[in-house]
Amino acid sequence: MTLNDLVVPAPEPLDDARHRAEPRYRIAEIRAADPLGADPLLGALPAMNAAADVPALAVALRALLPEPERAASFSVVDALAAMRDLGILLGSLKRHGTEPLAAVPEALPVLRLLGRRTDMVPRDTVHHYTAWNPTGPRQRMYTGDPMEGNLQDAVRMVFPSLVACLDTCAELARLEPYDPAFAEALDRTAGHVARMVDSIDFTVARVSPEFFARELRSYFEEVDVAGEDLLGPAAAQVPLWLVDLTLWQCDRSDDAYDAFLDDSVRYSLPSWRAHHAVHRGGVSAVSKLSAAFSWEGTGSVPASLAASAVALARVLRLLKTFRARHITIARKAYSEEVRLYDVGSGGAPVALLRSVLDLTRANETLVRRSIRGSGTAAPDATARAARH
Ligand code: HEM
Repeated sequence: MTLNDLVVPAPEPLDDARHRAEPRYRIAEIRAADPLGADPLLGALPAMNAAADVPALAVALRALLPEPERAASFSVVDALAAMRDLGILLGSLKRHGTEPLAAVPEALPVLRLLGRRTDMVPRDTVHHYTAWNPTGPRQRMYTGDPMEGNLQDAVRMVFPSLVACLDTCAELARLEPYDPAFAEALDRTAGHVARMVDSIDFTVARVSPEFFARELRSYFEEVDVAGEDLLGPAAAQVPLWLVDLTLWQCDRSDDAYDAFLDDSVRYSLPSWRAHHAVHRGGVSAVSKLSAAFSWEGTGSVPASLAASAVALARVLRLLKTFRARHITIARKAYSEEVRLYDVGSGGAPVALLRSVLDLTRANETLVRRSIRGSGTAAPDATARAARH
């Protein structure tokens, strides 16, 4: 693969009627919105950060703060854009050693209001920093370095795929593996998860671990919001758990990943949190499939069940591929020689990535064993899996 193959593909549009009804999916509108008139000030943000100019950052945050009455009248689209623009100043102040709400306490009621208005945490998240961040000259950045833009693009490109996974995974949870629709839902999920692999390949090619560790990581520190530490808008909040949840996580996880998810879910969108609440006590696709294969005993199984197993192994393999490539760059960024912090910006160490990779691999192995036991063609032999 050459660098030229790694062009960021345009996001798939989220334009069906149901998606238009969800303001958080109206990406183009949120990007275009500038309810605080922040464009000129945020254009100067990389220079303020390069100079570690804390007084200028505090003045900028104060200058952008809307009157609470005005903020209360914002549409959800404008409220998301306003949080994006205040949020990047919070992370900037913290990076230079200043608790932003100690320096600018009058920001607290506005953050709370915007959090309530958008039904999200009262600070910016990875979605504000990437999917909802404009591209081109209005792009909000801490450093202005092209590598920061590349990391933002890597996350931007997977947002529509994760939205689509929410639907395919919810559908999967309603189905049994004997139903041909089970494999179809998994095949559609595989198409979306493949974008995660593209995204991490793009990251590895375009973001150096040294840049992440030494320049960018410090902007993702947690911020104290009225006694509550809220994590920064880092990629660790990318909700790949949406896919894990109904595939295997709801009943085949471990304590470390459960604890990480319990902390992470709050940073996601309201409908994604609802999805988590509905499915967390469910029966996973891997468990359903494993029960069906036990029921069938040794020897051949119905064609629909075999197809479900092949499709499930394929998605798990894609998740494993993402995680194996992701852990390689994470290890480099958190190696002793390079790192400034012991744990990731999501609050967890690289060891967590190892255990999630191991869990993904163990579930894939279980499904593959069932396939081998039934004499079904291995998923590796299928043309669709060949891409990754
Ligand atoms: C220089 C690039 C990156 C580094 C050094 C890095 C590092 C890490 C680390 C250390 C964690 C552990 C949790 C924590 O941070 O507290 C993590 C979690 C995670 N990261 Fe990254 N990451 C990078 C880029 C990305 C990108 C581009 C994506 C997605 C598009 C991503 C998705 C995730 C996900 C989904 C998790 C949760 C654990 C999992 O599901 O396996 N990361 N990352």
